[in-house]
Amino acid sequence: MRIVITGGCGFLGRRVAMKLLAEGSALGPVDELVLFDNALPALPLPEDKRVRVVTGDIADRATVAQLIAPGTDAVFHLAAIVSGQAEADPDLGYRVNLDGTRAVLDACRALGSQPRLIFASSLAVYGGALPPEVGEETALMPQSSYGTQKAIGELLVNDYSRKGFVDGRALRLPTVVVRPGLPNRAASTFASSMIREPLTGRDAVCPVTPETVMALASPRRIVAGLVHALGLPGEAFGATRVMQLPGFSVSVGDMAAAMRRAGGEAAHARLRWQPDAQIQAIVGSWPRALAAPRAEALGFGRDRDIDEVVQAFIEDDMALQKTLVA
Ligand SMILES: NC(=O)c1ccc[n+]([C@@H]2O[C@H](COP(=O)([O-])OP(=O)(O)OC[C@H]3O[C@@H](n4cnc5c(N)ncnc54)[C@H](O)[C@@H]3O)[C@@H](O)[C@H]2O)c1
Repeated sequence: MRIVITGGCGFLGRRVAMKLLAEGSALGPVDELVLFDNALPALPLPEDKRVRVVTGDIADRATVAQLIAPGTDAVFHLAAIVSGQAEADPDLGYRVNLDGTRAVLDACRALGSQPRLIFASSLAVYGGALPPEVGEETALMPQSSYGTQKAIGELLVNDYSRKGFVDGRALRLPTVVVRPGLPNRAASTFASSMIREPLTGRDAVCPVTPETVMALASPRRIVAGLVHALGLPGEAFGATRVMQLPGFSVSVGDMAAAMRRAGGEAAHARLRWQPDAQIQAIVGSWPRALAAPRAEALGFGRDRDIDEVVQAFIEDDMALQKTLVA
């Protein structure tokens, strides 16, 4: 199989690549894995002769048409400008998150072979007055440019699938925690920093109150979910190719407590609470609890609790994180 991962040098793209190389895919062995990105990898990529790194701009249609060449069986479309940056620079956000997605869809369509396409959407498609549990039945009411771009992307994936141009699936990911590396420009970046930095001997600031509740999932779960989605037959999705992935609900105070249980008093002392009204308002507008019965019935898993997530960070990323910031 030839698989392309856009945003392949990013956080989730790199991990999807590592999982596919290590375990193969449900559709068959991976012969070529193309990691497409406009940035060089910030974290080390696996040394494997099946991997090819291609640098370019996802909104450049000619580049994307060349990338998604005949023989491409599947595309993970993960390249994106994250929420804070898409809000600050709407032109860039629309170019990458909307025009880039259309370029990917049209390059897939041009193949004429209905390749599988996995698109990463987000909880940012929801907004307004939310019910206690949010899921696919909840109306789309994005309150940001990023959420609007993701909602449009979902609809496009669904329609291109209906037309038989691609065999798409759009997964709504919860906020993924704990993310290794440096803070990024997502409004949710603190949710990783407040665990990652203290556990690796650095200071962190939490801009929201301990009572704030978030719906999260670990990188392990989300990467497993993205790869799982590749193997499911299109019919399994029913009337819509858009699927809410499971997440678990936790208060920010409980996240700090889990960090303290793992790292002790020294780690706990490194976390400072410094409210930021703007971030509090953004995070407060996000779903606090998720309902994902379709995804759970199809075998997408959910993390047990925040301690499991912190433990996964320690096992998977702590050593790497320490070398990164040394
Ligand atoms: N991590 C999360 O919590 C989360 C939650 C919901 C949805 N998502 C979505 O999942 C996907 C992957 O997220 P991530 O956390 O790995 O983000 P990331 O920022 O680490 O990865 C995105 C990658 O896209 C690349 N990119 C940006 N502009 C590009 C361009 N013009 N051309 C080519 N590549 C470009 C970036 O260099 C980056 O490597 C994104 O679509 C994101 O919106 C992530």
